[in-house]
Amino acid sequence: MESSLRKKIEEMKDWLVEVRRAIHMQPELGFEEIETSRLVSEWLERFGLHVKRGLAKTGVVGLLDGKEQSRTVAIRADMDALPIDEANSVPYASRVKGKMHACGHDAHVAILLGVAKFFSSMRDRVKGNIKWIFQPAEEGGGGGRVMVEEGVLENPKVDAIFGAHVFPFLPVGKVGIYEREGLAATDRFTIKIIGKGGHAATPHVSKDPILATGHLITQIHSIVSRNVNPLESAVVTIGKVSGGTAYNIIPDEVELLGTVRSLNSQVRETLKLRIEQVVQGIVQSYNMDYRFEFEYGYPVLINDLEMSKLVASACGNGIGNENVEILKPSMGGEDFAYYLEKVPGSFFRLGCRNEEKGIVHPYHSSLFDIDEEVLPFGVEIFIRIIDQYLGLRIV
Ligand code: NI
Repeated sequence: MESSLRKKIEEMKDWLVEVRRAIHMQPELGFEEIETSRLVSEWLERFGLHVKRGLAKTGVVGLLDGKEQSRTVAIRADMDALPIDEANSVPYASRVKGKMHACGHDAHVAILLGVAKFFSSMRDRVKGNIKWIFQPAEEGGGGGRVMVEEGVLENPKVDAIFGAHVFPFLPVGKVGIYEREGLAATDRFTIKIIGKGGHAATPHVSKDPILATGHLITQIHSIVSRNVNPLESAVVTIGKVSGGTAYNIIPDEVELLGTVRSLNSQVRETLKLRIEQVVQGIVQSYNMDYRFEFEYGYPVLINDLEMSKLVASACGNGIGNENVEILKPSMGGEDFAYYLEKVPGSFFRLGCRNEEKGIVHPYHSSLFDIDEEVLPFGVEIFIRIIDQYLGLRIV
């Protein structure tokens, strides 16, 4: 079946490119993926799958129920674009000003549709169920959480789930695997240092929150180096500092916005606790006041080791072990974590870089693009994983 699998996928390559480009030209932001979800539903219906729309507003679920009842495996794609002006001058560049598929979610949708096309053409050989999950709003909106809350993992109950993200740090043709932790918990905080404004020439009758903020910033960075076990991973970044209006005025307050990243809940809580303690210490020493808000974001993405091994072996059999890399976790975030909190599964990377074609730009860059060879490649990888998980022996 080996050569016939490649042949079948090769035959759908032009169609995959067409689908991806159609989505790329009409990018839609999180929870607004109206046209994208219509396109997805139309194809799934054409493939003869059971289609459910309207989960998490624009989410779509497709189901192929095989001949014999056995296990249910789900695969997931995200559909949302980003608020970026595309700088690429390719014929399929974004037609919408200020919006762009700069994270490759257009490719994820096309790849999953390719997998649907493949299995629908040989449904008499499918034992068990295959569920396709197309979710909105991965980019900060937590569409995955809403999909899970609205029951996407039930009816039929999902036994295992797999998801992939294109990866501009690996050449096309390679797969990157996280054995356990893959991406970080991504939380954010807001700090207000509240002093007392006044004239710059009379600092002794005011309380200068800018000076306090200067000390705060340097002290906050001691948390990772002095409160977190050096063998654990943690990031604290202050991304925005605002305060003051003019050169000769001491402002009333300064606001700081930041993010913390961690790979386990213990470190996560340590960061939260210590940041507030450092703030308390600083404001006490300057006789000031403060506000501290901590907002939990996506949880840590933790793959199931057995499922990651299954991905590695399915890929290794098909594309050779030399094209499978075990990756270290990234301190970015991914809302696929919500599915993995409920069912075992694995989230992996599909290389989409091609130096020769100049496809080297990182995610969220206005120059981001993918080598479209990743489309048929991704289809093959998902087919191999599903085949192995359900024991179909199609490939
Ligand atoms: Ni993404």
